[in-house]
Amino acid sequence: MKKMNRRWILRQRPVGDVCDDDLQLVEAPLPQPEDGEMLVRNIYLMVAPTNRVWMSQIDQYMAPVALGEVMRGVTMGVVIESRHPDFKPGDIVEGGMAWEEYSVTRTARRVPVAYDLPLHAFASVLGNSGMTAYFGMLDIARPKAGDTIVVSAAAGGVGSIAGQIGKILGCGW
Ligand SMILES: NC(=O)c1ccc[n+]([C@@H]2O[C@H](COP(=O)([O-])OP(=O)(O)OC[C@H]3O[C@@H](n4cnc5c(N)ncnc54)[C@H](OP(=O)(O)O)[C@@H]3O)[C@@H](O)[C@H]2O)c1
Repeated sequence: MKKMNRRWILRQRPVGDVCDDDLQLVEAPLPQPEDGEMLVRNIYLMVAPTNRVWMSQIDQYMAPVALGEVMRGVTMGVVIESRHPDFKPGDIVEGGMAWEEYSVTRTARRVPVAYDLPLHAFASVLGNSGMTAYFGMLDIARPKAGDTIVVSAAAGGVGSIAGQIGKILGCGW
């Protein structure tokens, strides 16, 4: 039986919170990698606030996702087939792909799986959320020991890590 891909299509632009009807799950043939590309089976999808922006038509840093197109997303997955010179089947990669089970990419980055850390750590504290908090705190905010830091949305992925970095630096919060 031919393997199919399952993907979430942006059906309509959300008004307020995202609703069930805004997205539609569809089946499509498995994509085939061309020269310089690889086929990835996605394991994790990083659902982030910026996804809501991509669903809208407001002025933003990337083109909005077009209606009827697969929803853009950052995912982590395993290379199934490779026509990319730097990657082989079994490699773990991460990058801008889509809300789908299988993606074809030529720009995903290798995930430096090491130290027996769980894979999901590279999708959170050692991934985009961790880097956003790390550089936000250490390069931009640069608090000193004894400072009081105020983190908005500190219960979230980025905010909770920013708070922990502040604690390590000796800040109160
Ligand atoms: N994650 C990344 O890689 C990344 C990269 C660059 C920039 N950013 C930006 O960093 C910010 C946080 O992202 P995140 O990944 O940490 O998101 P997140 O894990 O979804 O956390 C968002 C937090 O914001 C809170 N929140 C949402 N609406 C709120 C409101 N109206 N008033 C007060 N709190 C509210 C949520 O509270 P509840 O838990 O109660 O819903 C949640 O704790 C976003 O602006 C995002 O665009 C994130």
